[in-house]
Amino acid sequence: MPRLLMCPPTYFAIEYEINPWMSRLRGADPKLAEAQWTHLRDVLRRCGAEVELVEPRRGLPDLVFTANAGLVAGDRVILSRFRFPVRSGEEPVFRDWFATHGFTVEELPPDAFFEGAGDALECGEHLFCGYHFRSEIRSHDIIARLLNRRVLSLQLADPRFYHLDTCFCPLSAGQAMYYPGAFDEYARRVLAAHISDLIEVSEHDALRFGCNAVCLGEHVVVPTGCTQLVADLCSRGYRVHPVNLSEYLKSGGAAKCLTLRLD
Ligand code: ARG
Repeated sequence: MPRLLMCPPTYFAIEYEINPWMSRLRGADPKLAEAQWTHLRDVLRRCGAEVELVEPRRGLPDLVFTANAGLVAGDRVILSRFRFPVRSGEEPVFRDWFATHGFTVEELPPDAFFEGAGDALECGEHLFCGYHFRSEIRSHDIIARLLNRRVLSLQLADPRFYHLDTCFCPLSAGQAMYYPGAFDEYARRVLAAHISDLIEVSEHDALRFGCNAVCLGEHVVVPTGCTQLVADLCSRGYRVHPVNLSEYLKSGGAAKCLTLRLD
């Protein structure tokens, strides 16, 4: 059974601006955010996931984005080092959660910015890590050494797609969807060289966070409005579940950012 870590959106809000999607002038509706999060959690459960929770904290509005807690590898976790001080208060919260739930917590040097599963995704045997806007490429070498495995570094090139999980989503070994415009030329070549079935996501669907999907076997939970993407996934035999996450898009996040795979 896939295990996912989530955090209820009790204190979720747009309190600062650290990516092009966020504007304090365009706040999230707390009631709607709560309803959308609860619906996402229920859909994920129906798709077979077991959901574990980290307790929300006042003053940490982005704690809901548990994908950024760290990178889980078996019973170890490489804890995130957030680039922006407004999010670094999340580090001790996630450190405590992992430590009290049986994980060995590995810490990176203070300036080796790395934003966890938001910038680190496995596709089959390959570990891809994004860098530039949030994570530092320097962190990739440290991660490779800690995990004793090769890291394929991908440079992100469009500030709207500032985390790897906003523009790339592995579906199964050798299959992933991605928005090519978010990557630099070399990163696109690295992806093509290692993944045989790369499903191109249109700019229209990418801007609706189509790549920020949660894949659980044959089920794919995607934000609403991604028409072409839904058709492409259905034609490949996936069961697609669109979920409205409008309030989280205002923060630059969607389905995948709101979860962290623990198994
Ligand atoms: N407002 C958050 C930030 O800018 C959103 C994080 C989205 N997380 C992700 N894994 N893409 O940090």
